[in-house]
Amino acid sequence: MTSLLVTGGAGFIGSNFVHWALNNTDATVTVLDALTYAGNTANLGGLPEERFELVAGSVTNPGLVNELVEAHDAVVHFAAESHNDNSLEGPGVFIETNIVGTYHVLQAVRQFGKRLHHISTDEVYGDLELDDPAKFTAQTPYNPSSPYSASKAASDHLVRAWVRSFGVEATLSNCSNNYGPRQHIEKFIPRQITNLIDGIRPKLYGAGENVRDWIHVDDHNSAVWGILQKGRIGETYLIGADGEKNNKEVVELILQLMGRKPDDYDHVTDRPGHDLRYAIDSTKLREELGWEPQYTDFSEGLKDTITWYEENEAWWRPMKDTTEAKYAAKGQ
Ligand code: NAD
Ligand code: TYD
Repeated sequence: MTSLLVTGGAGFIGSNFVHWALNNTDATVTVLDALTYAGNTANLGGLPEERFELVAGSVTNPGLVNELVEAHDAVVHFAAESHNDNSLEGPGVFIETNIVGTYHVLQAVRQFGKRLHHISTDEVYGDLELDDPAKFTAQTPYNPSSPYSASKAASDHLVRAWVRSFGVEATLSNCSNNYGPRQHIEKFIPRQITNLIDGIRPKLYGAGENVRDWIHVDDHNSAVWGILQKGRIGETYLIGADGEKNNKEVVELILQLMGRKPDDYDHVTDRPGHDLRYAIDSTKLREELGWEPQYTDFSEGLKDTITWYEENEAWWRPMKDTTEAKYAAKGQ
């Protein structure tokens, strides 16, 4: 049985990972989470007490990080500030959590000789032209655009340096845009779903031509588990499920699935520095580790996600007014 320390496990992807790992493996899990606006203890409800524990605290606290890392076999490091729009308003906390926090995690796994898997994003590679035939691979040069993606790029560089300089046993993964249950309603898909439940028209930044490569969160997490078990130390694996769609197509699909007219949305102020297109080539992950996504029909996955938000209004309702007020202040 493996004991895992999961940082950021009260957030969207981390909490789905914890549920996934407890349902599909015999691992025990401790979550270290600062419970910021994005962390929610309700995400970790109903888990078996004998195999799960939540510790409220920050990855920027080296004493706590050392104590917890020493007591576990491996660390899966999800903790981060994760929203591009917030990084434009207040980048400081992104530097602290994403860079300094990763530094403390690295120093701890180095000191206690523990295995680390570092969770990152395809946004470290910058963006592609709409007609670029090449997709991102582990060889693509880093070229981040926003304070968020730059802070994640910096954290990736630290992990690689700790592997090479200090022999830390780490792997990295860079995944495309996730969707699924328990995603904060500041993010694109849950914002539009909850807007529609509230009778508000979806808000599309600019012309809506920007392309994201959507993957269901459970497919991301099954890949993370595979890398943790069988990934080669020091390697970077790109995770993606060939789910490219532009934002206009996604909004139109949400409108259709929720029984509205396809043009029932607003164009709003664009995001400064808005990345045009992300696309992942996941050949290495598929060929080396035999990973395959289970959610191959985006429309089906999106339908389930809509149902989750319809059935869990009590989860998102307390965040809705504050989230929308922040967007309204920016004309979005
Ligand atoms: P999220 O914002 O939903 O969750 C982040 C979690 O980290 C929250 O529970 C928050 O409380 C916690 N946290 C924040 N600061 C902390 C700190 N200092 N110490 C401990 N915990 C802290 O984010 P998410 O979408 O679940 O993303 C998780 C990871 O996956 C991030 O590293 C992100 O960069 C990466 N990622 C996300 C996506 C995506 O589409 N959401 C895609 C690829 C990679
Ligand atoms: P987001 O969920 O913030 O993820 P990321 O910035 O990591 O890709 O946004 C996804 C896409 O949706 C991105 O191109 C910005 C766009 N977007 C909108 O058009 N409207 C919105 O209300 C939001 C939040 C995002």
